[in-house]
Amino acid sequence: MARARDAALLLLASVLLPLAAATIVPSAPAAAPEDPRCRATAPRRGALAVYPSDMEQLQFLLNAKFVEAEWFLHAALGRGVDFLDRNLSAGGPRPSGARKAALDFRTTEVAAELGYQEVGHIRAIRQAVGGFPRPAIDLGADRFAMVMDDAMGVRLDPPFDPYASSVNFLLASYVFPHITAAATMGISSSLMGFLSKRLQASILAVEAGQDAVIRLLLYQRADEAVPPYQGHTVADFTRRISEWRNRMSGCGAKDEGVKVLDRQQGAERRTISNILGAGDDSLGFQRTPAEVLRILYGSRNEQIPGGFLPRGANGTIARGFFQLA
Ligand SMILES: *[C@@H]1O[C@H](CO)[C@@H](O)[C@H](O)[C@H]1NC(C)=O
Ligand SMILES: *[C@@H]1O[C@H](CO)[C@@H](O)[C@H](O)[C@H]1NC(C)=O
Repeated sequence: MARARDAALLLLASVLLPLAAATIVPSAPAAAPEDPRCRATAPRRGALAVYPSDMEQLQFLLNAKFVEAEWFLHAALGRGVDFLDRNLSAGGPRPSGARKAALDFRTTEVAAELGYQEVGHIRAIRQAVGGFPRPAIDLGADRFAMVMDDAMGVRLDPPFDPYASSVNFLLASYVFPHITAAATMGISSSLMGFLSKRLQASILAVEAGQDAVIRLLLYQRADEAVPPYQGHTVADFTRRISEWRNRMSGCGAKDEGVKVLDRQQGAERRTISNILGAGDDSLGFQRTPAEVLRILYGSRNEQIPGGFLPRGANGTIARGFFQLA
């Protein structure tokens, strides 16, 4: 019933909205591009757009962005970045193990949108500060199964398959945007150029949104068991994946599930829902590149590649750790 009513409303809206747009919008004055009130605040005189030291920080994000782009696009469409733009990989190897997930229609839409967003970010970073070839990426089901076993502290039987259902896909997706958002936060204080800062903020805005979308979709099912794992709810999975990330990164508690056990961890110490995981004063968590690599490698060590990046991340920062090993 509700669905039929919604459909009718949607139909009505789709008929009326274009009419409204046709009759009302053109009468509003189109903003002139040269209108100074439409432009972002000008950078101060003599400010540089990008400092050399900004470049490696922003490029570092490409590693996580490639993982996310390939993950979301393959899950939604069964094909990845190369299908959209052959140049973006710059000759880096194709990801292994990624495939189309068994998703319902809405989840497919969400996955595709997030994947396309990541492609845009890769292009934007490349254009602003250059980049490196796509690193080797492993998105095999067994890779996720290992993460989930490690996070849950049990050998899940059957092994967790991130491609098997919408809820499994959302739980697997939970692993990524939170790390990338925290990494994007983490570089903020070292960036100096005005273009670098603008790019960082623009990426963070969308990345944090991605994390929120995934987390909200999981929160809506927080108390449901994840089939076929009796006794493990969605909230339980998120809590344990967050603890796993804290354990891998080894820099304290910067991560919480979508539903906390103690209100003390919620917003203003008053909520059990924890849809936007955040620290004191509801400020986002920051992670350093080393922490991010420890998680993506699943090795607790930024010098030991593995996990989703079996041959390691690329760029000056990640290679720098590598050379220390
Ligand atoms: C890829 O690069 C080639 C050569 O530089 C260029 O001609 C082509 O337009 C690029 N493709 C895309 C989708 O940007
Ligand atoms: C890293 O990027 C360089 C080019 O900048 C490339 O030659 C090298 O093969 C890449 N390494 C890995 C592990 O992807």
